[in-house]
Amino acid sequence: MPAGALAGRTVLVTAGPTVEPIDAVRYISNYSSGKMGYAIAEAAAAAGARVVLVSGPVALAAPAGVEVVPVKTARDMLAAASDVFPAADAAIFAAAVADLRPANPADRKLKKGRDDAALANVPLTENPDILATLAAGKRADQYVVGFAAETNDVLMNAHAKLVKKNADMIVANQVGDGLAFGTDDDEVWLVTADDEVLLPLMSKRAVAGRLVEVVAAHLA
Ligand code: PMT
Repeated sequence: MPAGALAGRTVLVTAGPTVEPIDAVRYISNYSSGKMGYAIAEAAAAAGARVVLVSGPVALAAPAGVEVVPVKTARDMLAAASDVFPAADAAIFAAAVADLRPANPADRKLKKGRDDAALANVPLTENPDILATLAAGKRADQYVVGFAAETNDVLMNAHAKLVKKNADMIVANQVGDGLAFGTDDDEVWLVTADDEVLLPLMSKRAVAGRLVEVVAAHLA
């Protein structure tokens, strides 16, 4: 890819998990390491873009030249991504956002013995869908890429998410067999309304490079 393929462009990337507090010391979350989103941010910056990476809690260093906005919850991530989205030429939603959060998090530590009922029954409520919320208002000059992490019916679910979330492309990955969450390598499908392109098993950095190439071609 030419070094300046995204020069003058702004790219928003979300990465990592969100964490949703149960009480002052406990939370629900998922196994996302942030590797995929960070690799995408790095590749977009290397292509010359201004990159804003809205990241859940991960153990990764900020990629060179990338503005990182650290967040914890889905609602924090929505607020941070909403600030950047209007200025973004492309937005790539690689984060594994918790679909549900505890409805009434306690601001103190729940104690065994004293708070057994509250610990045994944590009512959940739905989080906002960041991709769907922002893509619902996308302009014709913005290119929006979502991800789909699926245990089965990968392509069928990816097409459904493409439509439901108003994305231009879904990067679909199969969960399990050493793929997707936490791994260095991945096998993905690039799914658009009229195409399905398989990127066979390769490093997440290589996936990111290919994806950024495709995004740059769409913006050109
Ligand atoms: O971080 P790694 O360890 O490298 O793992 C990479 C990954 C598996 C997290 C990544 O490749 C991936 O698949 N990310 C999306 C995971 C996911 O939550 O998929 P989903 O099918 O639940 O969500 C579909 C899309 O909607 C995603 O773009 C997601 O960011 C977005 N979403 C989902 C729920 C929500 N409340 N808000 C969202 O924006």
